[in-house]
This record gives sequence, structure tokens and C-alpha cells, in this order.
Amino acid sequence: MKHLLSLYDLSAGEIEEIFRLAEKLKKYVKEGVQHPMLKGKTLGMIFTKSSTRTRVSFEVGMYQLGGYALFLSAGDIQLGRGETVYDTAQVLSRYIDCIMIRTFKQSDVEDLARYGRIPVINGLTDLMHPCQILADLFTIYEQKGALKGLKLAYVGDGNNVANSLLHGCAKTGMDIAVASPRGFECDPKIISEARSDAELSGSRIVLTQDPEEAIKEADVVYTDTWVSMGQEAEKEERIKVFMPYQVNSRLFSLAKKDAIFLHCLPAYRGYEVTKEIIDGPRSAVFDEAENRLHVQKAIMVMLMGGGRI
Ligand code: CP
Ligand code: NVA
Repeated sequence: MKHLLSLYDLSAGEIEEIFRLAEKLKKYVKEGVQHPMLKGKTLGMIFTKSSTRTRVSFEVGMYQLGGYALFLSAGDIQLGRGETVYDTAQVLSRYIDCIMIRTFKQSDVEDLARYGRIPVINGLTDLMHPCQILADLFTIYEQKGALKGLKLAYVGDGNNVANSLLHGCAKTGMDIAVASPRGFECDPKIISEARSDAELSGSRIVLTQDPEEAIKEADVVYTDTWVSMGQEAEKEERIKVFMPYQVNSRLFSLAKKDAIFLHCLPAYRGYEVTKEIIDGPRSAVFDEAENRLHVQKAIMVMLMGGGRI
């Protein structure tokens, strides 16, 4: 593993390795065992979009691993004033050991990896959110004891989170059904990548406009905001289109009795999900958010050569 740009680049074995490490690192945190695997290493965190979870989990994760993280807001570094990705990659490669970037264009993340000489981690683009989905799959694994053979239903916008869920489920052999309105489907290239991985893993992929069809017999029900960062101007129109896709008690009751509810957060109660579901007994959203920390620490240890634990 050299970078984490897209889940499609990872093998099922690498995902398993990340989970094994994350499990150990989580245990160390719970037991108060020091684990300075990345002592002396530095992570640069470039953000051109807002963040709570990604920023805090990477920064705290690096601290717990004995390293140091720099918050590089695009508004404060020269990238935001037009310095090229090429020059930024060259310069940062001389100072730091790894870059995590959250931005709009997937191609900027790929260019950073291509032009620099250090590992790059995708902390969300308009197209993908791989770190989130690794934490989601880890959470499902913790709660259900397996991934293969389970069914995840994603109901809502075919956005970055939905795209990476397609990648992740297809890699790990989970069945996935995505229900999105016409015109808001997942990315066609990602769908075809997922289909090719699904043939190998045995995962079943269903794409539909019908939320009831998707959610039927699901082990995991997932949704995300209807208005992603950068789409604020479309808010009113989107709310109208997506209202039939709200995850509420009626829809959730079609899933399996022991189904869990996931959401990457931030959530907007009363829109994509109702309060009784996200704050109810089947919701695992805060375990999911916590797992960003443990899983990303495992990713950083693997990418920055912290050795085996
Ligand atoms: N889920 C997630 O990435 O949250 P933030 O936008 O707060 O980082
Ligand atoms: N789809 C959302 C995810 C936020 C973590 C967005 O891109 O804003």
C-alpha cells in the first residue's frame, strides 16, 4: 500500500490487515497502553472543505502514535492562492512524511500522489470518501462479526459516500443495494469497478430508484446528507427530490429485525433520517465515528512504515 486514494486500489487482504491493526490500536487506547509507532513522523492535513471528524481523528491519531499533525487550511497555504499542486507536492515531500487531503476534485488528490514522493491519503473528494467507508466496514465487522454475505442498503444521494460504499462492499463480499432518485445515481465508472470486484468476491449489487426494494432484509441501513459540501445552492430542490428517501421508522421496519443504522455524519435530522432512527437503539453512528480514529491510525501506520505491532 503506497497511498490511499480510492478503495478500489486496495486488495481484500489489505483491508483485512487494516482491520487487524485497527483492532489492536483500539484495544491499546481502551487499556491506556502507549503505542508510539510513528514517533518523529509528521502528517500534513490539507483541507479545502470543512471537517469535524476527519480533522480531529487524524490529528489526535497522529498524536497518539507519537507523531505530529499540521492543519493546513487551503485558505492559509499558497495552494489556496493558486500555487500548483505540483509545486505543493514537491515542497511538502521535503518536509513531511505523509499528506491527508480533503478537497473537491479527485484528480487533485491523484496529482498530489503522482508528483510528490510521500504517501497521500484521500480525506474526501466530491467522488469518494475511502477512510469513512473503511471505518464503516470495520464497525459492521465489530457489530456483526463478518462482512461477507451481509446486505447493506444505502438510501439517498449517490454521492462520494455511496460511491465508496460500492467499492468497499464489492471488495469485501458484502451485498449492497443503493436506492437513489433518477439523476442522482452513483458514478458510472465506480459502478463498473464495483461490478468487476463483485464478480470476484461474490457480492451482489442492486441499483434501484425504489428505497423499499433496497432496504428489504438489509442487515445495515445507511444514509448520508442530501446536500453535500459544495451543493448548498441546490438545497431546496434536493429536499423535494429526496423526501421519499428519508430513513424513518416505516422504511427501517422493512430491514431485518437486528439491522443497524449507520450515517457518516454530519446528519440533518428530519431530512435524510428521522430522530427516532438516528437516536434510536439500532443506531451505531457514534461507534462508527469513533472508529474513524482507530482505522485511520492503522492506515497511517501502514503507509508511514511504523512496522508491525
Ligand atoms: N464523516 C466525516 O467525514 O465527517 P467530517 O466532515 O466532520 O470530517
Ligand atoms: N457527502 C458528504 C459527506 C460529509 C462527510 C459531503 O461530501 O459533504
